[in-house]
Amino acid sequence: MGKNTVFSDDIKEIVIDEQELKDRISELGKEITDSYEKDDDIVMLCILRGAILFMADLAREIDLPVVFDFMDVSSYGASTESSGVVRIIKDMEENIEGRHLLIVEDIIDTGRTLKHVVDMLETRDPKSIKVVTLLDKPDRRVQKEMDADFNGFEIPDKFVVGYGLDFAEKYRNLSFIGVLKEKLYI
Ligand code: XMP
Ligand code: MG
Repeated sequence: MGKNTVFSDDIKEIVIDEQELKDRISELGKEITDSYEKDDDIVMLCILRGAILFMADLAREIDLPVVFDFMDVSSYGASTESSGVVRIIKDMEENIEGRHLLIVEDIIDTGRTLKHVVDMLETRDPKSIKVVTLLDKPDRRVQKEMDADFNGFEIPDKFVVGYGLDFAEKYRNLSFIGVLKEKLYI
């Protein structure tokens, strides 16, 4: 398992290992770089907290001048499914009018959280909005139009942790994406 041996007993299965993450993020960086012009004014918006490690690694693979910003949102609802009622805990700070916005997400599940964020940010008149997500659970999608422009990995409908993603705020510092043993959810 390499690093993070403190969590070894909790992990049932590794879904995406560290090298796979690194390789795919490098590809995503190239795809994103190729999709813009060299002099585009791009704001990279990290959706806290899950996307923080992805943002940090992805940004270094994008060969364009980008500005960093952060937004913290919380989705009300049962713990396993978001309701779409999204509360903005911390708004972004940049004025995005006339600028290119690249939203960086950890995972798109039902798509409700992202739909709310995109609808809200569209009212601020950015020049474009693109979305990059590390993970996608297409089987769970309720908001069908909420597909990302750039997608790291499609994963099955399993609750995953690591590389930014948490269970009760734990496991974010795992260097891979994995599934927890069932006994931990009780
Ligand atoms: P929706 O359903 O609105 O949800 O697309 C997106 C948000 O739900 C969280 N989420 C997860 N978090 N492991 C996690 O740690 C998962 O498997 C998972 N599935 C959804 C996440 O915060 C995401 O932004
Ligand atoms: Mg979470």
